[in-house]
Amino acid sequence: MKALLQPFKVSVDMVSLWCVSALLIFLSLGASGTNPGVKVRLTQQGLEYGRQIGLVTLQEKLKTIKIPDLSGSEKVSPIGKVSYSLTGIQILNLGLPKSSVGLVPGTGVNLFIGDAFINLHGNWRVKYLKIIKDSGSFDLSVSRLSIGVTIGVKEDDTGRPSVSSANCAASVGDVSIKFHGGASWLYNLFKSYIDKALRSALQKQICSLVGEAIDEMNPHLKTLNVLAHVDKYAEIEYSMVESPLISNSSIDLSLKGEFYNIGQHQEPPFSPTPFSLPAQDSNMLYISLSAFTLNSAGFVYNNAGVLELYITDDMIPSSFPVRLNTKTFGTFIPQIAKQYPGLMMKLLVKAAKEPNISFEPNNMTVQASSTVTAYAIQPNATLSPLFILSLNASVSAQIYVSGLKVAGVLSLNEMDMTLVTSYVGPFEVKSLDSFLTMIVKVVVIPKVNTYLKQGYPLPSIGKMNLLNTQLQILKDNVLIGTDVQFSA
Ligand SMILES: *[C@@H]1O[C@H](CO)[C@@H](O)[C@H](O)[C@H]1NC(C)=O
Ligand SMILES: *[C@@H]1O[C@H](CO)[C@@H](O)[C@H](O)[C@H]1NC(C)=O
Ligand SMILES: *[C@@H]1O[C@H](CO)[C@@H](O)[C@H](O)[C@H]1NC(C)=O
Ligand SMILES: *[C@@H]1O[C@H](CO)[C@@H](O)[C@H](O)[C@H]1NC(C)=O
Ligand SMILES: *[C@@H]1O[C@H](CO)[C@@H](O)[C@H](O)[C@H]1NC(C)=O
Repeated sequence: MKALLQPFKVSVDMVSLWCVSALLIFLSLGASGTNPGVKVRLTQQGLEYGRQIGLVTLQEKLKTIKIPDLSGSEKVSPIGKVSYSLTGIQILNLGLPKSSVGLVPGTGVNLFIGDAFINLHGNWRVKYLKIIKDSGSFDLSVSRLSIGVTIGVKEDDTGRPSVSSANCAASVGDVSIKFHGGASWLYNLFKSYIDKALRSALQKQICSLVGEAIDEMNPHLKTLNVLAHVDKYAEIEYSMVESPLISNSSIDLSLKGEFYNIGQHQEPPFSPTPFSLPAQDSNMLYISLSAFTLNSAGFVYNNAGVLELYITDDMIPSSFPVRLNTKTFGTFIPQIAKQYPGLMMKLLVKAAKEPNISFEPNNMTVQASSTVTAYAIQPNATLSPLFILSLNASVSAQIYVSGLKVAGVLSLNEMDMTLVTSYVGPFEVKSLDSFLTMIVKVVVIPKVNTYLKQGYPLPSIGKMNLLNTQLQILKDNVLIGTDVQFSA
């Protein structure tokens, strides 16, 4: 009985173990399946541009094909033994006039090259009847050469895309030879040897050179700025969060697109919401930045404690009648002039929490929630607090692409204020409305704009330039459509 039960117990344990591990796998998949903050799409047009630059590289690669020297001897009647050698075979010209690229859903890119040709030149030499020597040169041309290769596109272990040659086939169409010098009977002797040797050398070398050319793309792909430096506070992570998605019309990369404090990757209390790229294909590349990406910036700068600004009287235009001193503030709040006569004042505007950026079609809005603390500056420089306001502003943002950066300009829509604390007794906050609106418009927003003008790096590879760039604000994300050009 015991012996019978034993294996049964083992199998139950195996089942429960399997259930637990299946559950763990399921849970860990759920946890690691982060939604991207940024999506990048390469369209057919982008692929087409890739084909053009890829062909230049491939052409140079294929020009390094080596045709080995050939030598041997052959009995030819009635002459007898003829020794021959074919040496110094060089490629004069190599053309890839016809090629096309297509997408292989789930795998990568198909490259087909047809009607390629190679022109070669070499020297021949023969010796027969012991003493007769003859030599000359020859021209070879290979035509109707075709090459087909699939380029697999994957994600490497650093979160960057990588490519590999998945399968390759080359076929040589026609080979024709033209001899210079020598007797015509000699030509027939060489012809078949050359044809065979050439075909074998080409078949052997073409696919490995194609493979090398594809591998040589990887160092370029490795330049993707997976951790893009912004300034002394922030960096943006652009590593891929999942394998590239290859459909029949595009290659889509899902990037993390999240700002972090430098060296300190703390997650914000909000996470990216799923979004999809619209079906647009007039540009080579589309980069979509979600509201999450921009909001993570707000979280980072707020954490770094830099979303604050001291405002002093010298920052207010001299034409403005209201000055930052207790005398003019006394006209709104008489207690200030009485309690702190003849002093200059200072305001501290400070974010109360990270700003909230939201997108609606053609409309990007920032909700900023802050506090304004007013101080009187004592002759010994001590700051005496006068009052604290809560100030919430709704700001419109315009964003634009400048170089490889996205930058912005803000303008005030509206703001609301309430009194949080007063150290000088009750007063009517409304009396400060026009003064504070002016401060926000003329001092705070221009300061922020100076900063936003510096921009944030977009994901990029190598020495990439953007052309024909257009930007659209959609629901929950901003879409940048652009053509690219690589400079050497
Ligand atoms: C591409 O795929 C979509 C859906 O995945 C399909 O509707 C469409 O017909 C395909 N187009 C071509 C040209 O195969
Ligand atoms: C940001 O604003 C949007 C729309 O105004 C709102 O739906 C969202 O909950 C806000 N997010 C945060 C973190 O406050
Ligand atoms: C943009 O959206 C905000 C809030 O969602 C709204 O207050 C504002 O009027 C809108 N602006 C335009 C130009 O539609
Ligand atoms: C500065 O001056 C104020 C007002 O005269 C006084 O209350 C405060 O103690 C002084 N602080 C220091 C550090 O001397
Ligand atoms: C500003 O918004 C915060 C919450 O985001 C709220 O607690 C506060 O009352 C608001 N202040 C004003 C002046 O609307």
